[in-house]
Amino acid sequence: MKVALLGHGTVGSGVEKILNGMKDTDIDICGILVRNIRPDMDERYTDDVEKIFGNKPECIIECLGGDEPAYSYVKRALESGIDVISANKKMLSRHMDLFDTAKSNNTKLLFEASCGGGIPWLINIRRIKRNDEIVSIKGIINGTCNYLLSRLFNEDISFADALKNAQELGYAEADPSDDICGYDSRYKLTLSIYEAFDKIMDYSSIPCFGIDNITDKDIQYAKDNNMVIKLIASADLKGNNISAFVMPCFIRKDDIFASVSSNNNILMSDSKYLGKAYFAGQGAGSLPTGHAIVQDLLDLKNNEMCLNESEADKIDNDISRLGVFYIRHQNIAAFKDYIAEKISDDSFISRRCSFKGISDIIDNNHDEKMFIGEINR
Ligand code: HSE
Repeated sequence: MKVALLGHGTVGSGVEKILNGMKDTDIDICGILVRNIRPDMDERYTDDVEKIFGNKPECIIECLGGDEPAYSYVKRALESGIDVISANKKMLSRHMDLFDTAKSNNTKLLFEASCGGGIPWLINIRRIKRNDEIVSIKGIINGTCNYLLSRLFNEDISFADALKNAQELGYAEADPSDDICGYDSRYKLTLSIYEAFDKIMDYSSIPCFGIDNITDKDIQYAKDNNMVIKLIASADLKGNNISAFVMPCFIRKDDIFASVSSNNNILMSDSKYLGKAYFAGQGAGSLPTGHAIVQDLLDLKNNEMCLNESEADKIDNDISRLGVFYIRHQNIAAFKDYIAEKISDDSFISRRCSFKGISDIIDNNHDEKMFIGEINR
C-alpha cells in the first residue's frame, strides 16, 4: 500500500518511526512533504506537493497542522480518489464539509488522532453507537491545560513558567493561546459531537472559556473546598438538541476526572445501555498520536473500519443548560440577580441558573481578566 506523509514534525515523524519499526507490512511511504529539504534527507522527501500527488499514493496522512494548505491538500486528495488520515483537529472542525466531500467521492476520511491523541476514543464511540444511544460526552481533551493545572495546583510555579515547560515538552500548539483559551478543546469537541451524535455543530457556537486568566485566588477557592479545577469539554443530548460547552470546572478531589493529571486526557461517553464508559491516556505527543494514525491506516489497509455511515444534520447549540458557576469579574453587581454566595468583592458563586442568562451579562459587561468555572458538574 502506497502512502504519503504530509508534514514531518512531531506527529509525522512519530508515524514514520512506528511504520519503520513494523515488520511484515507492505506499507510503503512513497513521499514525505516537508517545508525545507535538508541534505540528510533521502529521495522520498520533497517540498513539492505535486511530486506527492504524482506518486499516486492510495492514502495521504496529513500531519501539517493549521488551516491552509492542509485543507486544500486534503480536499484535493479526497476528490482524486485518495483516502486521507488526518490529525488536524483545527482544520477538520472548521471544514466539516470535508466529510461530505469524502462521502460524495467514495473516499475515506479517518481522524482518530485528532481527538484524544493516542486514546482509542472515536473508534469506541462509533462502536458504542452501533447498538446504543449516546446521551452525553465529556472530556479533558487538552493535555497542555491539564499539565498546567496539575502543576499550578501541586507546586509553587507561575503560569508563565509552567507554560514554557509545556512548550518545551512539545505539548502546546504553535500558538499556545489555542490551548489555554480552550479553542483546541472546542475543535476536538466539535469532532466528537459529529461522531457521537451525528450532528454538525459550528465550532464557533460553542461557548468557550479557558484557563488563561486563572489566578491563585481561583485555585485557593478550589483548594479550600476540597476541589480541583479541570478544563472540561462536554456535550449533552436534549431531545434533538445538543448543549455543548468548553469551560473550567471545579470538581471534587474524589471525582474520576480529578485523578487524571499532567498531560493525560480522559474522555467519557454516557449511553442508554452501556452507561458511563471512560477512556484515558496520552492525549498528545509524537508516538501516541502516531500510534492512533497507524491504527487508522491498518484499518484502512485491512478494510476493517468501523465507519460512521450516518447522515449528519447541521444543528445549533442550545446554551440554556442549568448549572452553578464560580465567577470572578470586576463588576459583580451586574450579576446581582444570580449571586447565591459572595466570596469577595470580585467573585461569587451563582445560584443554580441557565448559562444563557449569565452569558448575556458577560457579553454586556466586558472584563478581559474574568474567570468562570462550573461547580461540580
Ligand atoms: N496541544 C494539544 C494538547 C496537542 O495539548 O492537547 C494534542 O492535540
